[in-house]
Amino acid sequence: EAPGWVAEVDVVVVGSGIAGLTAALECSDLGKVMVVTKSVVAAGSTPWAQGGIASVQAEGDTVEQHIDDTLVAGAGLCVPDAVRVLVSEGPDAVAELIARGAEFDRDEAGELELTREGGHHRNRIAHAGGDATGAEIERALVSKVKSMPEIEIVEHALVLDLIPAAGDLPGVAGVTLHVMGAGTRGGVGAVHARAVVLATGGIGQIYAATTNPPVSTGDGVAAALRAGARLRDVEFIQFHPTVLYLGPGARGQLPLVSEAVRGEGAHLLNSAGERFMIGQHPLAELAPRDVVAKAIMKEMAKEDSDHVFVDGRMLGEEMWRVRFPTILNSCRQVGINPVTDLIPVSPACHYFCGGIETDLDGATSLTGLYACGEVASSGVHGANRLASNSLLEGLVFARRIAISLHDQPPPRRQPAEDPREPGLIDRSVVPTMQQAMSRYAGGLRSARGLDRCAEELSVLAKSNGAVPGLEAWEATNLMTVATVVVASARIREESRGAHWRDDFEDRVDGWQGHLLAQLEDHHLR
Ligand code: SIN
Repeated sequence: EAPGWVAEVDVVVVGSGIAGLTAALECSDLGKVMVVTKSVVAAGSTPWAQGGIASVQAEGDTVEQHIDDTLVAGAGLCVPDAVRVLVSEGPDAVAELIARGAEFDRDEAGELELTREGGHHRNRIAHAGGDATGAEIERALVSKVKSMPEIEIVEHALVLDLIPAAGDLPGVAGVTLHVMGAGTRGGVGAVHARAVVLATGGIGQIYAATTNPPVSTGDGVAAALRAGARLRDVEFIQFHPTVLYLGPGARGQLPLVSEAVRGEGAHLLNSAGERFMIGQHPLAELAPRDVVAKAIMKEMAKEDSDHVFVDGRMLGEEMWRVRFPTILNSCRQVGINPVTDLIPVSPACHYFCGGIETDLDGATSLTGLYACGEVASSGVHGANRLASNSLLEGLVFARRIAISLHDQPPPRRQPAEDPREPGLIDRSVVPTMQQAMSRYAGGLRSARGLDRCAEELSVLAKSNGAVPGLEAWEATNLMTVATVVVASARIREESRGAHWRDDFEDRVDGWQGHLLAQLEDHHLR
């Protein structure tokens, strides 16, 4: 469909979580900035973040220790320079967030209250509203962005594709989008920009059960892939160990039971009431997330059960009420009182460690295209993200994109023809795709299962004559992302970080490299 309207801006930011809104604020003195977002501004993953934001704040903590914890969690695949940037710029980025109005929990002396989560050797995680950290950050950033007339926000705007730049150098000159609703920006439109910043978040909806909200359908990853950008490490999808278990058929977005609950002293128990993490890792329940998720999956298989338990009874009522009001509420809604009851939990899809490959300034393999936050593979997470490094990544790399745009503004390039619409997938196949992904390409994988999954996806992909619309585009993006995840997971014949193969159980030195994905072509670097 030809665009009914065209807007000319300097920077278009796609997505409105911590990364997108920070990028918009930091770019606001570069000229016209537009934020486009698929639903309302606060519908993404950021408001769901519980645990908090990690950075070196406490006396006795050091940049080197935070770097080391990040590298260990990343299981040999972090990009060390990117981790150094993340950690050393972290405290300033958090200070800037506070200056923008985010109010974190503080102790009686007025200092940030800091907690711990899996893989951290120090208390370095700042939180807000107890366990409502993301909601407070989003509130502050939305309010700041809305107060700035130089930033235009377009809601209910689904990005269809990236507009290629004319000329020989592969690049991007804007986006096409479909805005639900009438008005000057209604219907199909095009935004031409010197820089496109993708901050569209994660891909959790490729699985049947996830902590991600319904909007996490991998739109930015799929659009970047169609445009020819390089993806990296997409086989590494983190399963959060402790997601509230709501019964065998539960699907969609499920409530998180933050690692911070374990950080404050809660234990994991099997159905015999035993602490099965003791002896498995020196940090026991606070081992890195992949270690805990695998141990839980093994324990569930051993017991032929579909959940284990978080025991937070020792935390007491006051702690639950003040420190974990969100989780308390989720538990109460299903008749569990964590002050007196065990909380049934099981792992579910939580975070996309890979994404669109970027350099230290958020630049992708296409000129004019930048990415930050969960959609990007900046190199800081490697094979398994350290808890609470993701909000920090959004802040730090959004800011670095803006600095590099200030220093070296990309030239305004002429748009080539608008991209051709891909064959759109029918929404009705999505539940079958999600079941296949959960069954064969989730926390535990094997060649047989992945082959089966790839076959099922290719059959489902044949239902590709859907009428254009939000559901068809989301289904298409989900299918694109699922296909590339399965293809990469098939190639990586080892277990490392969040990628666990039962036919290749060990980590193998020869695989300490990245899988890159570019449309259908995969190769090791
Ligand atoms: C949690 O609160 O357990 C999640 C934090 C994160 O994913 O970093």
